[in-house]
Amino acid sequence: MINVIKKNILVVNGPNLNMLGLREPEIYGRETLDDIAENMTVRAKELGFTVDFYQSNSEGDLVDRIQVARGKYAALIINAAAFSHTSVAIVDALRLVDFPIIEVHLSNIFAREEFRHHSCISPAANGVICGFGANSYILALEAVRNILS
Ligand code: DQA
Repeated sequence: MINVIKKNILVVNGPNLNMLGLREPEIYGRETLDDIAENMTVRAKELGFTVDFYQSNSEGDLVDRIQVARGKYAALIINAAAFSHTSVAIVDALRLVDFPIIEVHLSNIFAREEFRHHSCISPAANGVICGFGANSYILALEAVRNILS
């Protein structure tokens, strides 16, 4: 059997992240989700990866996307946004996958309102990167590279 080395990373984004750039720029910065996708594609290529980018405002769609990712990717980078703090369905889906998971947040969720201090999905992640703005996603790519090498 040919041993296929997976090089594709799935990046999943939750609700309201499609509004980055317009949405509370003092918290989330001025970069759009397209800017983040573009920068990640460039950095991923330097690291020898490709990225598939996905965003949805619907919890069920995020669960569906994670389910079909099973067995197909080298790693998953996820910013579940507000669902990070509430979603048992997303953490259950994450427990299905068989590759490393990095949770990211643009803002430092621990320096914000108390309801943001808890993430339901962190127990399913290899690690969490938060507080570095759009660079959190780039740091997550570096983390994936380190985990897989
Ligand atoms: C966020 C933090 C969440 O608390 C918030 O609901 C978001 C974005 C972040 O990237 O900082 O939508 O995940």
